[in-house]
Amino acid sequence: MMGASSKKKLSPRSVGRVKSESAKTAGSDARLLEAEQFLLPTYKRPAVVMTHGRGAYVFDSAGEKYLDFLGGIAVNALGHAHPRVVKVIRREAGRAIHLSNLFHNAYQGPLARKLSGWSGMDRVFFSNSGTEAIDGAMKLARLHGRKPDEAAGTVAKKHRFLALENSFHGRTFGAISVTSTEKYRLPFAPVVPGAEFVRFNDVADLEAKFDDTVCGIFLETVQGEGGIYPVSEEFWNRARALATQHGALLIADEIQCGLGRTGRYFAYQKFPSRPDIVLIAKPLAAGLPLGAILTTEAVASRVSPGMHGTTFGGGPLACAVALEFLKIVEDEKLLENIRARGAELREGLGKLASRFNFIREIRGEGLMIGVELSVEGAPFVSEAMQRGLLINCTHDFTVRLLPPFVITRAQVREFLRIFELVLATTSQQASASDSGKSANPGRVAHAAAR
Ligand SMILES: Cc1ncc(COP(=O)(O)O)c(C=O)c1O
Repeated sequence: MMGASSKKKLSPRSVGRVKSESAKTAGSDARLLEAEQFLLPTYKRPAVVMTHGRGAYVFDSAGEKYLDFLGGIAVNALGHAHPRVVKVIRREAGRAIHLSNLFHNAYQGPLARKLSGWSGMDRVFFSNSGTEAIDGAMKLARLHGRKPDEAAGTVAKKHRFLALENSFHGRTFGAISVTSTEKYRLPFAPVVPGAEFVRFNDVADLEAKFDDTVCGIFLETVQGEGGIYPVSEEFWNRARALATQHGALLIADEIQCGLGRTGRYFAYQKFPSRPDIVLIAKPLAAGLPLGAILTTEAVASRVSPGMHGTTFGGGPLACAVALEFLKIVEDEKLLENIRARGAELREGLGKLASRFNFIREIRGEGLMIGVELSVEGAPFVSEAMQRGLLINCTHDFTVRLLPPFVITRAQVREFLRIFELVLATTSQQASASDSGKSANPGRVAHAAAR
C-alpha cells in the first residue's frame, strides 16, 4: 500500500499524480474570488477553475488534467468535444439557436420519432431540464386522474403521488415534493400536497399505500443520488399492476439511468412491462440543456394546446444535437461499450474490495456504479482530485462513478490504478490520524434491498 508520504515522490505528470503547486494556489484566482463573492452559495466546490475537456479528460486553468469518471453528473456521455457534436453545434448556431414553440423547427419531430423508437412511447414533450420533466409529469398524472365530472379547480379524488424513500427527482417545487431526502424538501415547506413515500423495494408497503386516490407513482428505475440502488423486478411488476388496477400512471424517472447508461436504451427495458411515462434529460443533448417527457397516446389524449408549454424547451440547436447524440450511440455501438467497460470496472472494483475492507458493496449496471464505503467518501473524492481523477460521493458513503459511454479499456485500467492509490492513501491517512470519521450506519430504507 502507498503511504501519504509517498505522494511527494510521484511525478506531477504521472498517473495518479498529486497536483502541482500552481494548481494548489488556484485559490487566489480572481474568478474564484468573484464566484465566492457573487454566487449564491448553493454548492461546495474545490478551488479550481475547469476550462475545457477532450474525450474523457477535463483540464483546469492551471493546465492540470483529470480523468473524468463523473461525466458532469451523467451528462457528458460522449465525453468532451466529440467531433460530430461540435460539427452540429457549429452548423446549427449559424442557422437558428431559438425559434420558439409557436413554430415547428426541423428537429423536434425527427427527435421525438427517434425517442419513440428507443422507448416504445408514442408522444414527446421537450423541457429544458430533468426537474421540469418531473413537474410536467406530475401535471399529466393529475390531468389523467381527473374524471370528466370533476370540475377544474376542485381537488380531484385521484390526486395523490407515490414516490420512493431515498428518491431524488430534482429541485423545482413539484420535484422536491416527490423527493424523499428531507434536506432538499423540508426547508421549503409547504410543498405540493399529496405525496407519500413508499419504502424502497417493499411490496407490502406499496400495496398498503396504493389506492384509488393515487394518480401517479414515480420510480427512478435505478436510484442515482440515493446511492445507485436498482428497483427490483418484483417491485416494478407490482407497481405496474397496481397502477393499472387503480388507473394511475407508472412514471419512470430515467433522467440519470436512461439513454444507454445501464447498457440498455432505458433501464426499465429489463422488465417485462412498460411505464406510462418516461422522463429523460442529462445526456440527451450532449451537455446542452434538454429534457423530455415521453408518454403514451392514452395520456397524451388528455392534453390540449395551452395546458403546458415552455419558452426554451425543444429549441432547434438542442434538438439537432440530441438527434446526433442518439445516432452516435447507435453508430459507435456504445451500448456494447457500456456493457463491456462496465463489466471490466466492476471486476476491477471487486478485486479492490477484497483488498480494502472498508468497501462494503459495489452496486450498479453498465456505467452507473456505486462503491459503498463503511467510512465517509468525501476524503476519497478530494484525494482522487489531487491525483487527477474526478469522482463524487453521494449520500455521504457511496462513491459514484458515471464515466462517459465512450470510455476505453485503457481508461478503465487508468481509473483502477488511480483509484487503488486513492483507496490506499486515504485509508492510511484516515487510520493514522484517527480523525473520528463517522461510520456508515447503513440506511434503514435499503435494509430490505440487500
Ligand atoms: C433521477 C433524477 N431525476 C431528476 C433530476 C433533476 O434533473 P435536473 O438537474 O436536470 O433538473 C436528477 C438530477 O440529478 C436526477 O438524477
